Amino acid sequence: MSKVISAHAVSVDGYITGRDPRPGHGLGDGGTLFDWYFDGDTPSREFDGFKLSQPSARFFDAASARLGAIVAGRDTYEHSDRFGGGSPHPRVPLFVLSHRPAPELGERQTLVTTGVEDAIAAARQVAGGKDVGLMGGGLLTEALKAGLVDEVILHQVPILLGGGRPFFRSLPEHVRLRPLEVVQAPGVTHLRYEVTR
Ligand SMILES: NC(=O)c1ccc[n+]([C@@H]2O[C@H](COP(=O)([O-])OP(=O)(O)OC[C@H]3O[C@@H](n4cnc5c(N)ncnc54)[C@H](OP(=O)(O)O)[C@@H]3O)[C@@H](O)[C@H]2O)c1
Repeated sequence: MSKVISAHAVSVDGYITGRDPRPGHGLGDGGTLFDWYFDGDTPSREFDGFKLSQPSARFFDAASARLGAIVAGRDTYEHSDRFGGGSPHPRVPLFVLSHRPAPELGERQTLVTTGVEDAIAAARQVAGGKDVGLMGGGLLTEALKAGLVDEVILHQVPILLGGGRPFFRSLPEHVRLRPLEVVQAPGVTHLRYEVTR
């Protein structure tokens, strides 16, 4: 059964961006969250141009290879300059969740304005049995509230950013997690949790 997973680079104080993220400046002053993509000597098998440490490459490629579609929140989409009309993943299509129309969408992009359940269902339909990835802390929180998330991955970077967009927003009740994997790598610790509900 295809799963719904979410993977973000996050500071130790829980931010997925620094201050002032916006179009053209996706992570605000928190660009260091992505340093581990490029500070090693092992090329990613999934993403051209990424050179990671060996343990990071193994973990990152394994997670990326599972994906058949991605759902991104509107802010992730806008701050990433609409992914240049494509997708954040070289192989898989993108669904954007928003309350508003979007001006222009690329061939591999679909806008969903009828809620998180519909966005994930639409992504699942084209994912060919593979997993659906979620991008954006607001989107992830909405999906957790709806009970739709199976796994949460944190690429935890040893920095306190002190401000930015938080990974998790408030939830109406506790969500229980079971640790599945911890991988210590240069400049980042990869944490994979199963949502047990
Ligand atoms: N560190 C990382 O690995 C990482 C990964 C991904 C993204 N990011 C960064 O994170 C930032 C964005 O994250 P974020 O958490 O602030 O925002 P987000 O989750 O990307 O987007 C939130 C927006 O999505 C739409 N949305 C969410 N739930 C919805 C629902 N149930 N129905 C309809 N629309 C819904 C709303 O847009 P509207 O109301 O405006 O339509 C909402 O304001 C960006 O700066 C991005 O670069 C970092």
